[in-house]
Amino acid sequence: MLIEAIDNLRRKRNAIILAHYYQEEAIQDIADFIGDSLELSRKAAQTNAEVIVFCGVHFMAETAKILCPEKTVLIPDLDAGCTLADDCPADEFENFRNKHPDHFVVSYINCTAAVKAQSDLICTSSNAVELIRQLPKDRPILFAPDQNLGKWVQKQSGRELTFWPGSCIVHETFSEEALLKLKLKYPHAEVLAHPECQTNLLELSDFIGSTSKLLKQAELSNAKEFIVLTEPGILHQMRLKMPEKMFVEVPGIDGCSCNACPYMRLNTLEKLLNCLQTMTPQINMDETLRSKALKPIENMLKMSR
Ligand code: 13P
Ligand code: SF4
Repeated sequence: MLIEAIDNLRRKRNAIILAHYYQEEAIQDIADFIGDSLELSRKAAQTNAEVIVFCGVHFMAETAKILCPEKTVLIPDLDAGCTLADDCPADEFENFRNKHPDHFVVSYINCTAAVKAQSDLICTSSNAVELIRQLPKDRPILFAPDQNLGKWVQKQSGRELTFWPGSCIVHETFSEEALLKLKLKYPHAEVLAHPECQTNLLELSDFIGSTSKLLKQAELSNAKEFIVLTEPGILHQMRLKMPEKMFVEVPGIDGCSCNACPYMRLNTLEKLLNCLQTMTPQINMDETLRSKALKPIENMLKMSR
């Protein structure tokens, strides 16, 4: 019933449903397109649909609105935030920037429009290394708001970065002890990790990349077992695409289930139907802010393959 109602309304409203890999399985199953942050912004920029229903977190839906101001952008739950974006307030970020006036400012897409508007370039976990490598060698670089991603990018690119001290509550909860136990239990498993994880865990991993890159690596790899160090929502597509392979999620510290993103999981099928029925909640934005935030996103889209 719920699925049928969403399907009918999606057609009636000329809407596209975009979903991130961390959404609950039922939302992934009904989505028109599932992707990582970069792919979702590209899809939003290209769609002919009049309405974008963004099943993800607020900064993702906001990015879609920045790219497509003429479209109606809906998010099933307006409270679906992100600690990285929430812990980098625009006024404090401005002070931080002012302390480093000669720096080129690169911000991870997990930040608010007001922080994007103060940045020279936006990156995602999929293109951060590639973009940083292209920056002029004589300019120092500020990197915000994820210091774990930043440290990994610094190592990969050989460029020294000055970090905003942010981190993701979900990726910070992965336990090294739990990972080591899983590696002992599955000695042939390949460890796939998201770069938002802490350095000690990344050092124990075989492959590091964005959600889409982890999925692609699992398909390309000859391994039959995988330990996956990111939000377990991604395991749904892994299992659907590779039923013959085995995927194991890593629990949080003390075996808690805090490896599931509490913000992503606020979206439900019921709320998805409700937003198509009521056409709320919508993402709206001041035009001056939008046009300032657009420039570094356009720079990213031009510079990444
Ligand atoms: P991806 O761009 O890899 O999908 O990551 C988004 C995110 O929020 C990870 O926590
Ligand atoms: Fe933000 Fe972390 Fe959730 Fe990704 S997993 S949306 S970085 S809180």
